[in-house]
Amino acid sequence: MFELNNKTAIITGGGSGIGRAIALLFARSGASVHVLELSEEAGAGVVNEIRAAGGQATAHVCDVTRQADVRARFAAIGAIDILINNAGIAHVGKADNTAEEDFDRVINVNVKGAYNCLHEAIPLLRANGGGVILNMASVAAWVAVPERFAYSTAKGAVMAMTLSVAKDYLQDRIRCNSISPGRVHTPFVDGFLAKNYPGQEAEMFERLSKTQPIGRMARPEEVAALALYLCSDEAAFITGSDYPIDGGFITLNA
Ligand SMILES: NC(=O)c1ccc[n+]([C@@H]2O[C@H](COP(=O)([O-])OP(=O)(O)OC[C@H]3O[C@@H](n4cnc5c(N)ncnc54)[C@H](O)[C@@H]3O)[C@@H](O)[C@H]2O)c1
Repeated sequence: MFELNNKTAIITGGGSGIGRAIALLFARSGASVHVLELSEEAGAGVVNEIRAAGGQATAHVCDVTRQADVRARFAAIGAIDILINNAGIAHVGKADNTAEEDFDRVINVNVKGAYNCLHEAIPLLRANGGGVILNMASVAAWVAVPERFAYSTAKGAVMAMTLSVAKDYLQDRIRCNSISPGRVHTPFVDGFLAKNYPGQEAEMFERLSKTQPIGRMARPEEVAALALYLCSDEAAFITGSDYPIDGGFITLNA
């Protein structure tokens, strides 16, 4: 069950955290994996790990915010079956203290980056007779998280984008879903704590862990397992849905 033999998958931001866990699991499940990464080192790191374990993977240095860059990478890859729009960045702030450049940066990576990859992937998926798209949203698209104005705005857009794409390409046999993780312990969280709470990282880590009613953060591998199911043929009936994986963050925090 849940294998990806003979499938080709593109994973954006696949060099770290959730994307890295998805790349490793998809390769272990038989997929040929293409990691699109801003960081050459991170992309090469995961690809070396996959190859050392006998899997198939290629790293591509790519900034998903630049459509020409994305187009060139997708053209070089050719036929694909799966796109994982995972690359994303966070920001802490309310509407009145979020600087224009920070707002633009968050929207550019999380929203325009996903659009750029959809724009290039959909013709390839259609030509291939269909396929699967999975977007990384967040619990911040579902409920109010304090001081996440730009990030919540971006992840709300990712969820709406998921529905739009799922509807428009039904006839092309392209399924499109999203995952909304609660806090997942990745370099994204460590970097966020170091930047926003210097000197209080351990205390804030504990506090963020407890915001999941289950009492901890998710492991990237747990999100990857859900991604594998949603991209497998067993999930052929699932499209236009968002899947929270959040230790009860959305429904049990009252
Ligand atoms: N970690 C969490 O708690 C959490 C919770 C909910 C949603 N998410 C979402 O999951 C996704 C992955 O998060 P993570 O925690 O694994 O992050 P991470 O920071 O560990 O990894 C993100 C990767 O994306 C790459 N990247 C950033 N900008 C890029 C760009 N312009 N082009 C190409 N690659 C780029 C980075 O180099 C990095 O390797 C993000 O969309 C994030 O918003 C994370």
